[in-house]
Amino acid sequence: MPSTSALSLLVALVVLVVVRTTTTAATRGNPEAGKKIYLESCQSCHGPTGKGDSEMAVYLKPPPSNLTGKATQTKTDAELRKILLEGRPGTAMASFEGAFEETQLNDLIAYIRSIQS
Ligand code: HEC
Repeated sequence: MPSTSALSLLVALVVLVVVRTTTTAATRGNPEAGKKIYLESCQSCHGPTGKGDSEMAVYLKPPPSNLTGKATQTKTDAELRKILLEGRPGTAMASFEGAFEETQLNDLIAYIRSIQS
C-alpha cells in the first residue's frame, strides 16, 4: 500500500506531464520574437534574410544553408529543433543546446517558417 506522500508525488508528476504536453502542443512560436533572436545569433552565417548569403558564407564549407528553401522548409519542426540543439558536427553549424529557452526555440522555428520562399 503506497504511502500518502508517494501518492501525492505520483499525482504531481502526472499533472506535470499533462501540463507540459498541453502547453507544448499549444505553444506557437512568435515569428517577430524569433526574428530578433535570428538577427542576433544566426544572420552572421545565414544572412540577413536567411538565404545563406552572409559575407561569411564564402569562407564556410559546407556553406550555411538557405533557410528559406525547400530543403529546410520541408523539415518538420522536430527536425529543425534537433538541428538547433545538436548542431551539425563537422560544419560551422554549432550546437545551441542550452543557449535558448523553450519559447525562444519555438520563436526561432516560427521565424524560419515565416521566411519560406
Ligand atoms: C557560424 C555559422 C552559423 C551560425 C551562427 C548558425 N548557423 Fe545554421 N548552419 C550553418 C551551416 C554551415 C549549416 C549547413 C550545415 C550542413 O550543410 O550540414 C547550417 C545549417 C542550419 C540548418 C539546417 C538546414 C537544413 O535544411 O539542413 C538550420 C535549420 C540552421 N542552420 C539554423 C540556424 C539558426 C536558427 C541559427 C541561429 C540560432 C544558426 N543556424 C546559426 C552555419 C551557422
